[in-house]
Amino acid sequence: MDIRRFDPDDGDAVRGWAAVRTASSAHDAPWEHEPTEHFTLGQLRHGWDGEPQVPFLGTVGGVPVAAGAISTSERDNLHVAWVSVDVLPDRRRQGLGTTMLRHLEAEAARMGRTSVGISCWDVDGLEAFGLAHGYERRAVGVNRRQYIAEIDARALDVLHDEAAAAAADYELVRRRDRTPDDELEALAVMASAINDAPKEGLDIEDEVFDAARIRAYDDAQVSRGFALHRLVARHRRTGELAGQTVVVVDLERPHLADQHDTSVVAAHRGHRLGALLKTGMLQWLREDQPQVAEIDTWNAESNGFMIGVNEALGYRVMGREFDLQRSL
Ligand SMILES: CC(C)(COP(=O)(O)OP(=O)(O)OC[C@H]1O[C@@H](n2cnc3c(N)ncnc32)[C@H](O)[C@@H]1OP(=O)(O)O)[C@@H](O)C(=O)NCCC(=O)NCCS
Repeated sequence: MDIRRFDPDDGDAVRGWAAVRTASSAHDAPWEHEPTEHFTLGQLRHGWDGEPQVPFLGTVGGVPVAAGAISTSERDNLHVAWVSVDVLPDRRRQGLGTTMLRHLEAEAARMGRTSVGISCWDVDGLEAFGLAHGYERRAVGVNRRQYIAEIDARALDVLHDEAAAAAADYELVRRRDRTPDDELEALAVMASAINDAPKEGLDIEDEVFDAARIRAYDDAQVSRGFALHRLVARHRRTGELAGQTVVVVDLERPHLADQHDTSVVAAHRGHRLGALLKTGMLQWLREDQPQVAEIDTWNAESNGFMIGVNEALGYRVMGREFDLQRSL
């Protein structure tokens, strides 16, 4: 197999890489939405917050058979590289996955990274590949999906009113797309509360947030063609930011939305802010994006608090995911 790194401007490579990943996902996680070319290009150009993954295409006789990628950050976790490996379903068990993984590990080592992570669905045989290459399971994540049509609008309003009564010292502030410049610093301090989400056994450090990173996240999401909805809880008396929840709507397929961070700062926990934010977001989307039909979310399996809120809102489990890691 020939493996080469490619650039997002290389249209043939982008399409070949996306086709392998689409076939792989259809085989192992059929509930996932097919990544469109626009989605894939956005992913490769902007990533989550301006540090996009570097993609590799594996071909045999010029035909794409394997897709790899490596993600690293220069902001924190300088020891870690996350990789992904996908092989066309009908070309598996021929050593192609191993060849791609070895290539990515060598690339990670060349970048000075000493630990490699890889994720896979809880589907027969996938974890076995990682275990066969010296990786260990370190965390379990769950992908849930909420179907908006299943939400009882009146029950949602009742849940929201109950939370609002317990959180009377707080107000909700709606922010669309890019955060105003003068709010970036305070938002960065508040956003770092996401580091309290369980890391389980992963060898990772807290993520470092500053104003530039919030700006980079907003820019990446908006540039990818997502409508960004950020709902912030603000303490009325001090003006302190207490928590947030973020949902992005895919403007290319506006019935699809993804839940991003939800966090409440430790000093402000215990006032039902998690429920207030999540129900407040659904009310906002109902007004602003009434065509949204589904919201996907990912949580650590051990994140009982967040899952409790999600289950109350009718999220359904779609799949479990394992995060594996090994040191090089
Ligand atoms: C996981 C994946 C990349 C493996 O690709 P592949 O080309 O089949 O991998 P290889 O042929 O190099 O397999 C190497 C070894 O991994 C293990 N392995 C791979 N697939 C397995 C399966 N379905 N069941 C049991 N063991 C498996 C075996 O030990 C295998 O060696 P063997 O064939 O000599 O027994 C492929 O199944 C895939 O694309 N899955 C979806 C994406 C994914 O989950 N990637 C991350 C996995 S941690």
